[in-house]
Amino acid sequence: MRPTDGQKPGAAARVLVPLCGKTVDMPYLAQKGHEVVGVDGVEAAVWQLQRDSWLKFETFQAEPSAESSGRRPGFIPAPTFEKRRSGYVFKTDTLGTGYYLDKKAVKWFRDTRKRISVVVSDFLFLAPGDIGMFDRVWDRGALVALRPEDREEYVSTCDSVLEPGGKILLATLVYDQNAKKGPPYSIPLAEVQRLYGGKLGYAIETLSSVDAREEYQTKRFKNLAQLTQKTKNEKRGINQHSEEGC
Ligand SMILES: C[S@@+](CC[C@H](N)C(=O)[O-])C[C@H]1O[C@@H](n2cnc3c(N)ncnc32)[C@H](O)[C@@H]1O
Repeated sequence: MRPTDGQKPGAAARVLVPLCGKTVDMPYLAQKGHEVVGVDGVEAAVWQLQRDSWLKFETFQAEPSAESSGRRPGFIPAPTFEKRRSGYVFKTDTLGTGYYLDKKAVKWFRDTRKRISVVVSDFLFLAPGDIGMFDRVWDRGALVALRPEDREEYVSTCDSVLEPGGKILLATLVYDQNAKKGPPYSIPLAEVQRLYGGKLGYAIETLSSVDAREEYQTKRFKNLAQLTQKTKNEKRGINQHSEEGC
């Protein structure tokens, strides 16, 4: 994390790691003195993280906040089951038949001593009342993992939980999407600008850009002519941006 206007270099921050999986970045950030909250939709990731580290998680269930209930209505009438809706259960209850907000949709795993929590939930379903506010977001393998149609909801969730002056450190991949399908998807600078720069008004700065073909030497990416991993730092509330080719 780079020092920012509001924060002294090395100052402890509350850091969100969306779609965290079992990334060792979380214990790393905690060791640096930050309070870390990861979010992942799959509980197995938490147990793998515990197994692979010195963490010891305690579990508790939290009800979705009123805010998330506001963002997502508490009840969506539907005469028959249409499709699975994330954060909802389909049933017949007091309001009739349809999708009811799932009270068990937000589950916390916390290692209090190490100041690391993982929230098991659909990230797109969360609101500040569920996870609190953050100084930093570390996005590696999150935006690139989501379906393109979910990107705006994802960015809106990140924005809603970021303190004024907060920063997002984002690692993306850039390659020819016509040559390979995602995930991980190609997210060029223009897409980052569209998502964060537009009406949200983030300033976007590219910090580094490296040839990542060796790192991604899997069948999927083997024959790409170009695969670039970019790290971008987005800062709230400043209307300027840096340009560079993708
Ligand atoms: C590519 S992995 C990235 C893991 C981690 N960020 C890393 O760098 O190793 C993507 C993760 O996103 C999670 N995921 C995908 N969609 C999600 C959603 N809507 N809400 C929460 N987690 C989600 C998956 O369970 C998976 O663990």
